[in-house]
Order: sequence, then C-alpha cells, then structure tokens
Amino acid sequence: MGQIHILKGDITTAQVDAIVNAANSRMLGGGGVDGAIHRAAGPKLLAECKNVPSVNGQRCPTGEARITSAGNLSASYVIHTVGPIYNIDKAPREHLINAYENSFKLALSHACQSIAFPAISCGVYMYPHHEAAEIALNVALEYVNHFDIYFYLFDEPLFNIFKQTYRQLTTI
Ligand code: APR
Repeated sequence: MGQIHILKGDITTAQVDAIVNAANSRMLGGGGVDGAIHRAAGPKLLAECKNVPSVNGQRCPTGEARITSAGNLSASYVIHTVGPIYNIDKAPREHLINAYENSFKLALSHACQSIAFPAISCGVYMYPHHEAAEIALNVALEYVNHFDIYFYLFDEPLFNIFKQTYRQLTTI
C-alpha cells in the first residue's frame, strides 16, 4: 500500500524510481518542467528521446506516454507524457486522464514502486488548475495501492490547490 505525497519543490530532486515529464509530442525538450528535467538529466536524455520512433513528427501523441532512462537524475526512468493544450484540445479532460493513467501503466510495467509527477498541462498548456488537480489526484487514488506517489508543485498557489483538492477527495 503506497501513499500520496504533495510537495512544493523541484521535481528533479525527487528520489523515486520514475520521474514523469510534461513533454510535448516531439519529445525534444522545451521550457518549464521539460527544460528542467533535460537540464538535470543531461544530453543523454535527449539522445534517448531522439531514438523513440516518430510517426508524422510525433514521438508521443497527446495523452500517451513513453519511457526512457533518466541520465544524470537519481531516478531509474523518465516517463514522458504529453498533456492536452487546454484551449485547442477537443477532449482535454479525457487526454489529461490518459496522460496520468498511461504514465502509471508504464511505471507498473517497469516494476517501479515510486513515481513523481509535475502538474501536467498546468503551465503553458493552460489547463485550469482546480480541474487538473482533481483529475490528477483521482487517477492517483486508483494507483496508490501500487506506488508511493509524489506530486511536485512548483508554486505556492498550485501546491495549495493540490493540498485542498486532496483533502476534499479523501475526507468522507
Ligand atoms: N519541478 C516541478 N514542476 C515544475 C518545474 C520543476 N522543476 N518547472 C516547472 N514546473 C511546473 C510549472 O510551474 C507548471 O505548474 O510544471 C507545471 C507544468 O508546466 P509546463 O512545464 O509549462 O508544462 P505543460 O503546461 O504541460 O506544457 C508542456 O511546455 O515546456 C514545454 O516542452 C514542453 O511543450 C511542452 C509544454
């Protein structure tokens, strides 16, 4: 039986088996948490991402997830997932649920026992924070028997939203 931990901090410091990256479909790095993870992991991570097969320029379609090693990070794996761009995605809720679920499934198939997530789509992809937190934590509650789950929030307001949402979801 695992636990859900909600932390304020930099996900690249997470001491877990798998760190989840909020990537884009090209998987060639970017800004935000994607940039932070690639900087901390080093060039090996990008080299591995480039080996992921690309179909029509997409290595990882929205809602799916891909797994690589973690370069210089202390984790064993980086799981790259692509959340929905809220304002243009036709099914943002479904795609955000899929992004979390597919990340958990990949972690399960690689015998991970701990996993760290950022707030997927809550940055430049502009997903409304309360709804994103409710989605993230509801999926996490489905997998908490299998993992210690860590949510790393980078700013105080989003940290507070995740804490408050978790209290609401777990208070009978
Ligand atoms: N640790 C944890 N969380 C972080 C970190 C970090 N080091 N850096 C940023 N964040 C937070 C942001 O504050 C935001 O709350 O991660 C959340 C996700 O924001 P983004 O990184 O912008 O990710 P997303 O909204 O999913 O957009 C993905 O941004 O960086 C590009 O290549 C990426 O195109 C993709 C897009």
